[in-house]
Amino acid sequence: MMIHFILNGEETEIEAPADRRVVDLLREDMGLTGTKESCGTGECGACTILVDGVSRLSCLMLAAQLEGRSITTIEGLGSKEALHPVQKAFVEEGAVQCGFCIPGMVLASVNLLGENPAPTREEIRKGLAGNLCRCTGYQKIVDAVESAASHLQGKDTP
Ligand code: FES
Ligand code: FES
Repeated sequence: MMIHFILNGEETEIEAPADRRVVDLLREDMGLTGTKESCGTGECGACTILVDGVSRLSCLMLAAQLEGRSITTIEGLGSKEALHPVQKAFVEEGAVQCGFCIPGMVLASVNLLGENPAPTREEIRKGLAGNLCRCTGYQKIVDAVESAASHLQGKDTP
């Protein structure tokens, strides 16, 4: 079927089987390999994307479900020259080790801060509970989200 959707701000159409997994469509058919796949069964959050601004697991979504939606992948969040504040905070707080979980973690954090602009550390931990990281021990990730929240609220500007 022909699927029409907005991908990282651009109107997009692509021919794909209705039951093709979105993670495969993005990575294999569209070359957007920033979206990662680990478990493939909805357990790890590595494949997180934003669908109409809400985080979703692309390994559990089918291509037909994209019709008419607006999708953001990590490639569409910022640029090398102008990182999104959440990306910047992850870098500055040293929250990235191997990096495999980070695209999903960042997008889930953007979703979290959209719903709760000033989360407590506990709320950050709960908000990111579906995103697993085997490297960092989560402390630096929570630091990064806390820092991004402050930045987005203008609390760190002199
Ligand atoms: S790859 Fe989708 S949740 Fe793990
Ligand atoms: S930084 Fe390696 S899995 Fe999170």
